[in-house]
Amino acid sequence: MANNKTIDQFSNTGITKFSVNKVILDEINDRVITLIQRKKKLLTSKNKISLENFHNSVAVKNLNEIRMYLYAQLNKQDWILDKMFELFNSQIKLILGDELAVQKKVNLSIQLPNDNSSILPMHSDFFSGESIYQLNLWLPLVSVNKTSSMFYFLPKDSIKMINEIKKNSISDLNVIFKKNYKKIKWLNLKKGEGAVFSPNLLHGNVLNKEKNTRFSLNLRVKNLYSPYNHIYGNEKKLGSFYRPYNLKAMTIFNINNSFSFD
Ligand SMILES: [Fe+2]
Repeated sequence: MANNKTIDQFSNTGITKFSVNKVILDEINDRVITLIQRKKKLLTSKNKISLENFHNSVAVKNLNEIRMYLYAQLNKQDWILDKMFELFNSQIKLILGDELAVQKKVNLSIQLPNDNSSILPMHSDFFSGESIYQLNLWLPLVSVNKTSSMFYFLPKDSIKMINEIKKNSISDLNVIFKKNYKKIKWLNLKKGEGAVFSPNLLHGNVLNKEKNTRFSLNLRVKNLYSPYNHIYGNEKKLGSFYRPYNLKAMTIFNINNSFSFD
């Protein structure tokens, strides 16, 4: 259960891990495996599907087609969105409150060992117009460790590095990353754990050098009334990027009845 520890930890570090409901996690795992089995033609092995060992069942060239299929099927009728909300409900309530703006679809990421096609270089989400009040929900479907997981930098280090990025051109990101590599933190999670983090923290992933494939889900959520991003001009808005979620009667009343002077 989320509690004061969650609040303290998040307030100080912008990140917190927790155990998720195993029944719901198993439901998600089963659904993913069932869906993969429907795409037998794209698989290289007839063995039982294991997400950890998925690299033994698929060729890299077919990976994106499978990923897109899973993404579309899991998001049908908001099935996966509802599951994510069940799993992250306590953390969302403590960190963001009730009325929310939510990214339209839940993202799925698959990182096969040594596959360099899905590397996400270091960034903060607000670089691309997302709100600094956004919370990212992160759920691995397998245990993740070091390079099969994601990296992040603590708030102080992130701010220092972002200031450096501002001074230099964006092409120097990799140089700044390498220079600060010693301060890197890995989001190591066992299967059955999830995490929430502020994507203001510099984060990303590197080439998966571990033995296992990573399957993970992520979703961006913010409080409906927290500021949107006006910093970089490419603001991601309610309606196009986020959609309202869990609106209360007062908000609905004012949507339905225009009392404004202008
Ligand atoms: Fe990100």
